Amino acid sequence: MQWRTGSELRKLFLDFWISKGSKLYPSFSLVPDDPTLLFTIAGMVPFKMYYLGIKQPDHPTAVTSQKCVRTNDIDNVGRTARHHTFFEMLGNFAWGDYFKKEAITWAWEFLTEWVGLDPNRMYATIYLDDEEAFHVWNKIVGLPAERIYRFGEDENYWFMGNTGPCGPCSEIMYDQGPEFSCGKPTCDVGCSCDRYLEIWNLVFTQYDRQEDGSLKPLPKKNIDTGMGLERLTSLVQNVRSDFETDLFRPLIDHACEIAGVEYGSDARSDLAVRVIADHARSLAFMIADGILPSNEGQGYVLRRLLRRAVRYGRLIGLDKPFLCEFLPIIIRIMGDPYSELMEQQLTIEQVIHLEENKFSHTLEQGTNLLDMEISRLKKQNNETLDGDIAFTLYDTYGFPLELTTEICDESGIL
Ligand code: SER
Repeated sequence: MQWRTGSELRKLFLDFWISKGSKLYPSFSLVPDDPTLLFTIAGMVPFKMYYLGIKQPDHPTAVTSQKCVRTNDIDNVGRTARHHTFFEMLGNFAWGDYFKKEAITWAWEFLTEWVGLDPNRMYATIYLDDEEAFHVWNKIVGLPAERIYRFGEDENYWFMGNTGPCGPCSEIMYDQGPEFSCGKPTCDVGCSCDRYLEIWNLVFTQYDRQEDGSLKPLPKKNIDTGMGLERLTSLVQNVRSDFETDLFRPLIDHACEIAGVEYGSDARSDLAVRVIADHARSLAFMIADGILPSNEGQGYVLRRLLRRAVRYGRLIGLDKPFLCEFLPIIIRIMGDPYSELMEQQLTIEQVIHLEENKFSHTLEQGTNLLDMEISRLKKQNNETLDGDIAFTLYDTYGFPLELTTEICDESGIL
């Protein structure tokens, strides 16, 4: 397999689907035109109206690399090889045009012939009784039946949200090899460890979930697929985690350099630099799309991400504001095609600068107060922080509770 940069892979994907007749759209905003969602969480979100049949597309098929934000798994970010708050979803879409046969065979063609992944390491999963998908995988692609796994709704049915477009899906998995396995005897396709990596989700969007949970058939049979660019890049670059790809590595290296730590030498500082790299990308892209820090909605998420990044920075000794320094690196990596980063560079810098300084002040005040309290407790041989202190820190000073817990942990206080 040929080594490629993340940018080359993005382009390869778009070119492939253009060659199949899809219309190319630039990424839509992270702020969706949809009151049911806070962020664009998947490539299909901007096209919801086409799925529902409320609007008609001027072309029946499309391809994008879509900026996405998902924060439901924020606690895992940095702890695993794959979780991110900001990521790019490579996706192809069809409304009443090609369906399962083409979606599956073309996805296979892209991965095996264009990217060069080893077909012998690939598996497919399908929804329980989706015989049509089974037939395509088995008879047309030629994947042996024992490499096609059937799973239920949790694994192989995709819902956009509580309401809206949904349908059964088929996922393409890639066996990274036994060295990536959790080692459990049950480790197989579907295991949550890193061995069988889910690379591409092909959704056959045929229903509109109603408020009462019922599934209303959509006017047309549709396709919605999503593959994480970061994940695909990690396979092609043969690295153990998305953070080691060229999409992330310069950010990781910079965080290590300013903190004076070495990546891979200490689990705690590795976690901190990964969180900082991840959140720095989110901050830049969110502000570029017009989000500002606030106490609600998207702005609250932005504020929370910035504070988390600063807090992780403190843990590796970054006491001075540092987040703006990541912007030129993000622009170098992703300024093409995301020209909004350059266009909004000054605004992004100003917003980060102000918010980071404000929070640094909060942190300083809170840390001083907490340090004093901890020394007092130690003198008294007391090992328990009064809950009222933690509350005052949070309520009056805006000092995050997790930070109080962490600082207490470090000092042996409960
Ligand atoms: N919408 C599906 C997903 O997010 C496929 O793009 O996985």
